[in-house]
Amino acid sequence: MDTHLNRVEEIKIEQGVKKSRTPARLDYAQSATGLFLALFMWAHMMLVSSILLGEEMMYKVTKLLEGEPILGESYPILVTLTAIFIFTIFITHAAIAIRKFPGSWKEYRLYRAHMKRMKHGDTNLWFYQVMTGFVMFFLGSVHLFIIMTNPADIGPYASADRIVSEWMWPVYILLLLAVEFHGSIGLYRLAVKWGWFEGKDAKKSRKKLKMYKWFITFFFLTLGFLSLAAYIKIGLAQIDADKVGSRYIPQSSIEKGVH
Ligand code: HEM
Repeated sequence: MDTHLNRVEEIKIEQGVKKSRTPARLDYAQSATGLFLALFMWAHMMLVSSILLGEEMMYKVTKLLEGEPILGESYPILVTLTAIFIFTIFITHAAIAIRKFPGSWKEYRLYRAHMKRMKHGDTNLWFYQVMTGFVMFFLGSVHLFIIMTNPADIGPYASADRIVSEWMWPVYILLLLAVEFHGSIGLYRLAVKWGWFEGKDAKKSRKKLKMYKWFITFFFLTLGFLSLAAYIKIGLAQIDADKVGSRYIPQSSIEKGVH
């Protein structure tokens, strides 16, 4: 049997039909970039939600990301460099994913029919991944480009102005929904695919993983919408006080009288 298989392999190689390892490598790269982006988003949402602890706290987080506590001065270029790095991984992840998108309207209809027939939860999840991924490709790019080119305009007032006066709130609502469903479904599918936390009873652990997935989605959506509401409240107050475009003055500067 073995010699037969070897002969088949030999014939394939002779005919130039070599088994390609590219699909497996692409699969691996997609999982790795996806895992990185999902974990990055957890950190990102925690940092953005610092506004819930007050304007001063969000200001401090912004200055930390600009390197001020370590370098002694603010370097917004650090935000640009981080955004370029994230953008590169984001584009790589999307580029690898495109090969799995339905290629035509006919293929899409076939897939929908298959979904209805199968009524299999995990098959449907794949479809939601494609849809939310599509939304993120556009809205995430808009957000990343704005952040990349305006790195110094992040802060309690600057961010609130962008969200309210510069009309980013509809983009953020849609992006938040897409990213939170996409991220937690992605992590769940990764865990199932690579057998993480499988334990002895695969069926039972899958059920548990699904529960964690829902919890993560609910947690980050709540955190995201609460943060968005806090920024919107500040943005509206800026309009009311005719102070759109003004910047937050930190407590330390007020105490020293430097503002
Ligand atoms: C280095 C990369 C990134 C930086 C520095 C960054 C920074 C920020 C900042 C400062 C905000 C607050 C609002 C504002 O100032 O406009 C924000 C909000 C948001 N970002 Fe990012 N972001 C990055 C990457 C991403 C990516 C890759 C995504 C998803 C594709 C994303 C999704 C969001 C969402 C959904 C919100 C609204 C948050 C909420 O509703 O509370 N961000 N981001």
